[in-house]
Amino acid sequence: MSRRAVVFGAAGQLGIELVRELQQRRFTVVSWDRSKVDITDPAAVENALANYDAEIVFNAAAYNQVDVAEKEPQAAFQVNALAVRNLALACRQVDAQLVHFSTDYVFDGAARHPYVEEDPTHPLGAYAVSKLAGELYAQAYLDRALVVRTSGVFGPGGLTTARGNFVELMLRLAGSPNPIRVVEDHVASPTFAPLLASRTIDLVERDISGLFHIGGGAPISWFQFARLIFEAAGLKPTLLATNEREYRTPARRPKYSALSNAKMERSGIAPLPPLRDVLTTYFEARAAAVQR
Ligand SMILES: NC(=O)c1ccc[n+]([C@@H]2O[C@H](COP(=O)([O-])OP(=O)(O)OC[C@H]3O[C@@H](n4cnc5c(N)ncnc54)[C@H](OP(=O)(O)O)[C@@H]3O)[C@@H](O)[C@H]2O)c1
Repeated sequence: MSRRAVVFGAAGQLGIELVRELQQRRFTVVSWDRSKVDITDPAAVENALANYDAEIVFNAAAYNQVDVAEKEPQAAFQVNALAVRNLALACRQVDAQLVHFSTDYVFDGAARHPYVEEDPTHPLGAYAVSKLAGELYAQAYLDRALVVRTSGVFGPGGLTTARGNFVELMLRLAGSPNPIRVVEDHVASPTFAPLLASRTIDLVERDISGLFHIGGGAPISWFQFARLIFEAAGLKPTLLATNEREYRTPARRPKYSALSNAKMERSGIAPLPPLRDVLTTYFEARAAAVQR
């Protein structure tokens, strides 16, 4: 019999890919976007799960506006922390496994090696604090939650979602005559949403729980990532390197937040392919999405 899964936040970049991948692997899937179930409503979450005999519950919903969160920290905390508590409590009632996603921003960026799961956390702002609190809520109420930290998510869903993603932002900027300035002193692990979904489901299928990092492979600065994007897209806009001193944002961000996938790989899960190859796949998937 196929396993029964639920996806909350199903209309986001990751949610779309989780639903697609679960269906391909013959899970029975129910997906809810915010209009169907708002995860900040404890009764709505509890009712939704009580009426569906789920074995695995994926939370792809998140408040991801890192800079806006500095003005409205309560809004970020409601979605990223207290709503995870709602999900954890509801999962405990129906004995379902919660699979929750967190961020590289739980770290302060002082490291000079890709972060491993054992590294101490030190969030630098309201968004990051709210995401760390979400991890803690998932782990506080559940013995076998799977918490996956990831970084710079981009997927074809970003073409249509309100928040978009870095690739779509770069393509939009390339359409204007102005030079594009991107920070070269911030390094991360941009992660392709379909691969994040499939590697996470690999962990679930092996019945693995705990804390895992799934980041997009070799560490790369946002400037170098922008370069790769324009190469893959066959575009030649004027791209200039800047740095955090020149390009100030309301929220502090870790300068270095690359994630190590070593624990995931030790668990028998395939490594992620190089970013250059992933971007080729992104542009193929994007072209298909544009045609639909
Ligand atoms: N995107 C990144 O660069 C990044 C980096 C590190 C970690 N992550 C983490 O990776 C996960 C997936 O991110 P993503 O890129 O797929 O995000 P996304 O594209 O912004 O999708 C988030 C989804 O959550 C929904 N949502 C927000 N509040 C909700 C609520 N109260 N109830 C139900 N749904 C709600 C949003 O709906 P609306 O559109 O209606 O708001 C949206 O569909 C998240 O946990 C995120 O924190 C992302």
